[in-house]
Amino acid sequence: MTAFAAAAAGFPDPFRLLIRDSVESTNDEVRILGQAGAPEGLVLIAQNQSAGRGRRGAAWFASPGESLAFSILVRPTEAKALWPRLALAAGLAVAEAMDRFGLQAGIKWPNDVWLNGKKVAGILVEAGSDFAVVGIGINVNSTAFPAAISELATSMRIESGNAISLSEVLAAVVTRFSIRGRGLGQGFNDVLTAIRQRCVLTGHEVSLTAAHGMERGVVEGLGEGGELLLRTEAGMQRILQADEVRLVSR
Ligand code: BTN
Repeated sequence: MTAFAAAAAGFPDPFRLLIRDSVESTNDEVRILGQAGAPEGLVLIAQNQSAGRGRRGAAWFASPGESLAFSILVRPTEAKALWPRLALAAGLAVAEAMDRFGLQAGIKWPNDVWLNGKKVAGILVEAGSDFAVVGIGINVNSTAFPAAISELATSMRIESGNAISLSEVLAAVVTRFSIRGRGLGQGFNDVLTAIRQRCVLTGHEVSLTAAHGMERGVVEGLGEGGELLLRTEAGMQRILQADEVRLVSR
């Protein structure tokens, strides 16, 4: 864990690191600290996460010592209606951090990071009353995954062919998040421009479950608020939130 502490010495303000050996979920730990009034910028990382959560209550697989599981406490000043943008900003920060390791990551709207058509990282944002927890899981050096996700998941190591320093990835993500995480209001245009360039869904046929039901269509891109623009038989739909978005060709 000393490598993490060394990496944290280079975190930009106000980010600072708390290191835990083992927790159920780093998001739960940070939520408790947020409720107790901890300031923005707390990053809590666990070597072992025994009950990591993904979106829609799914379990999140993280191999200890090979993957990163951490959560960041933020206290956005923007209206709460804009907080869902945190997931986009965090996904972008992760994707941009991967540039440093020679990996061209894409963003699968709304909050997955992909390498070569497979998921390498996921984001889970959970809001409290006056704070939000940005949970980030990254497959860094993992070489094997549970059977249920083995066709869908990859790691930075698998895609680069090299072992990669967990602490260097952590520092790179926090550094990029310190910039992108501030772009929920006026700065969102910059976030959006960068995400559009990395959006792996644009131009592809997808199926998804939106608030009003199933939709199928071709993704035309992202709208001004970060919503998915989906061309369906019924016309253009603006999808604000959706459960699992599947590429129809997969
Ligand atoms: C997803 O892709 O469904 C989101 C995965 C988010 C996983 C991270 S790991 C750190 C943080 N703690 C959790 O329990 N979940 C997030």
